[in-house]
Amino acid sequence: MSTSDIVLSAQNLVKRFGGITATGNVSLDLHKGARHALIGPNGAGKTTLINLLTGVLEPTEGRIVLQGQDITRLAPHQRVRRGMVRTFQINQLFDTLTPVQTLAMAVSQHMGLGRRWWQPLGRNDAVTERCDMLLEQFHLTEVMNQKTQVLAYAKRRLLEIAIALACEPRVLLLDEPVAGVPAGEREELLRTVAALPADVSVLLIEHDMDLVFSFARRMTVLVNGTVLTEGDPDTIANDPQVKAVYLGHGEEASAAGPSQGASAPSGGSAAHEVASVGVNHHG
Ligand SMILES: Nc1ncnc2c1ncn2[C@@H]1O[C@H](COP(=O)(O)OP(=O)(O)OP(=O)(O)O)[C@@H](O)[C@H]1O
Ligand SMILES: [Mg+2]
Repeated sequence: MSTSDIVLSAQNLVKRFGGITATGNVSLDLHKGARHALIGPNGAGKTTLINLLTGVLEPTEGRIVLQGQDITRLAPHQRVRRGMVRTFQINQLFDTLTPVQTLAMAVSQHMGLGRRWWQPLGRNDAVTERCDMLLEQFHLTEVMNQKTQVLAYAKRRLLEIAIALACEPRVLLLDEPVAGVPAGEREELLRTVAALPADVSVLLIEHDMDLVFSFARRMTVLVNGTVLTEGDPDTIANDPQVKAVYLGHGEEASAAGPSQGASAPSGGSAAHEVASVGVNHHG
């Protein structure tokens, strides 16, 4: 990986809330086409980092560079326009709209059509075509005309990612996409995240280690607001420090089984149990 293919770069970011340092000198590079996971215990500062990157929060110190341009002081919507889009840890959708209406709104907005999305659908071929594609890609076609509030939670989360993709991002930041999704509904979500367009650089925050290890080619571990380490999944899974502060929690919790360490999981793995036991899934 060369420095020339860095799409997004956080440089020495610091964020203090009064006496609390939520982010303490964090640097992180996201490369073109990245499948990069950001993991760490509750309160490590993962969401704060995403909020800094997207402009929801202003950093106390440091710089953010997107595709070679300093965006540190840009407003959130300006960053979206430059290709950086996020989803939220806690589901944020219009409950009374249907998926097709929600996507029509997002796509029209992105195409610069503003509120004209409210015209009967089908009036604008480009919008309809793009919506159909997104509905298909995110397994929402079957439920496209149901109110969002009645959808299964996994479908709601799929819709959120679809909305983000409607903005045609270069960089996609996913904050706990499977949080709150029942085990039985996760599979479709995992497969869909895995199938995101290869040219979109993705930074994923997640406590579900099955998703993290099946998805990531690179991982950063955040603890107490600072980067503990960064590396490929194998290195991270076998890092004694990482096991001690994060992945290793469940070893004590599942003392009945032999201590296998947090090897890169496949299927219902040790590390996944570790995460489910040792980490508070909320959101
Ligand atoms: N607006 C705020 N004001 C004060 N403190 C905050 C604020 N936002 C976050 N913090 C603090 O910053 C730290 C990091 O929080 P953050 O939400 O970024 O953690 P996280 O890694 O996303 O955790 P989780 O895995 O639980 O989602 C915590 O100690 C939190 O209490
Ligand atoms: Mg968080």
